[in-house]
Amino acid sequence: MSKLLVLVLFVVYSEACYWNAPCTYQLFGSKTPYDTVRGDIRDYATPPNCEAVSIWTLNRHGNRNPGDSVTRGMKEVSLLRDEIVQSWDMGTSKLCAQDIEDFRNFKWNDTMDVATSYLTGTGYDELYGIGQRLREKYPHLLSGPADKFYFRPTNEQRTITSCVAFIHGLSDGTNLNVTMEQARQRDDVLRPYENCDRYQHEVKDGYALAYQLETYFNSPKYVAIQNAVQNRLGIETQLNASMVFSLYEMCRFYRTWSPDYRSPWCAAFTEEELPFIEYYEDIRHYYRNGYGSWVNENLGRLAMKDLYDSFMAFLEGSGRKISGHFTHDTMMEMVWCALGLYKEDAPLQATTMDPHRAWRSSYIGAFSSNIIAVLNSCDEVSSQPANQYYRVQIFINERETPLCPLEGCTMEEFQDKFKFFTDANLDFCSLSYEQNEHDPSTNNAPSVNAFWRYRP
Ligand SMILES: *[C@@H]1O[C@H](CO)[C@@H](O)[C@H](O)[C@H]1NC(C)=O
Ligand SMILES: *[C@@H]1O[C@H](CO)[C@@H](O)[C@H](O)[C@H]1NC(C)=O
Ligand SMILES: *[C@@H]1O[C@H](CO)[C@@H](O)[C@H](O)[C@H]1NC(C)=O
Repeated sequence: MSKLLVLVLFVVYSEACYWNAPCTYQLFGSKTPYDTVRGDIRDYATPPNCEAVSIWTLNRHGNRNPGDSVTRGMKEVSLLRDEIVQSWDMGTSKLCAQDIEDFRNFKWNDTMDVATSYLTGTGYDELYGIGQRLREKYPHLLSGPADKFYFRPTNEQRTITSCVAFIHGLSDGTNLNVTMEQARQRDDVLRPYENCDRYQHEVKDGYALAYQLETYFNSPKYVAIQNAVQNRLGIETQLNASMVFSLYEMCRFYRTWSPDYRSPWCAAFTEEELPFIEYYEDIRHYYRNGYGSWVNENLGRLAMKDLYDSFMAFLEGSGRKISGHFTHDTMMEMVWCALGLYKEDAPLQATTMDPHRAWRSSYIGAFSSNIIAVLNSCDEVSSQPANQYYRVQIFINERETPLCPLEGCTMEEFQDKFKFFTDANLDFCSLSYEQNEHDPSTNNAPSVNAFWRYRP
């Protein structure tokens, strides 16, 4: 949906109801459905005279239920449903009759209470779909002994089940017999931030993050939205900042479980308000997982070392055909930083939203976000004997990236960008560790972090 279209529709239908709006806003930060942002690996050609020989992927888990505290907030505002409906009867509501009827028919989904943070059926389908498309694109990779395949999730139901779904999609209808690794209690490659003291103290519990979030919720723009929602719903209960955000959570979670990606709770917001609420998560993730701290890009490096080592092992004859890893948006975003992707010239700020920012969680941290690296073995047919060489393609969310051209990086280019990661370690995580590592200028990968700005 083009921006222009949204604009035109907004002007023409500014009084429109939510339920029959021809298109509705699609970007909901880390709760954006994968289908909204993905490309399709099947649409990209294998480089000429080449055949894929090894694939390495890192995946965020798919659609899941909200966690504990989010569920609690959602439950609390879900109780406003009757008041929202009554306000319409009393004439104080600005919503449309059908949107009110949809509110009346709303039912709290009990699976959220018993399966907190669990992968949903929608999430299973997302990962199955990625596996299926890889199977259709690279059928020749799906045979051979089990030790040519490797799959590892972090130690959570949602990543373990995502791994199962991915393998299911990959192997469905084939004779492939593969297993997944036991998740590790502590996984310093797939979740290094969990045991990184410096990250926990200076980033997650750090000042910058708390300051930005507080600034966001007190910003004139958010306060205006809060008042507008109050007025639109016409209810007597006074909404505060966190209740308005819980209404947004109702909207963005429930819509992902409906076939048409709609929920009556989204009627609480206008198409103009949603992009600014979406921005909250970009701020949060920027300071928690992203360029807001030098720690984050360091935490992304070990996974890229794993990718590099994996392809080097293949060249030395001991590699795997497919390696899949299943993790969290925190990790995905740390990897983007290690790679120098989606970087702004100036740090994101809670009060000034750049509509063209590269760091946008809807695109870079949606459910099932992933990076897929494909090692292709190629033959120069014109030379006798045929000269063999390699090409590496890298996709993010099944789309082209600036990391390598579509026809692939040469092995030399790949090594130029990724060899840097072989020195990665977690020494900096110790709070007593002191070195020049704090200085970002001594800390950047030579060619990878060359200020790439990439907008999907
Ligand atoms: C309830 O939520 C689950 C996800 O937890 C979803 O798969 C299911 O479709 C939902 N049910 C309804 C009736 O929306
Ligand atoms: C799959 O492989 C495992 C060992 O790797 C073996 O025990 C099992 O019988 C195999 N299953 C099938 C259906 O071949
Ligand atoms: C908003 O109100 C709810 C209950 O009415 C309360 O639990 C919550 O802490 C309040 N949030 C803020 C930011 O004041």
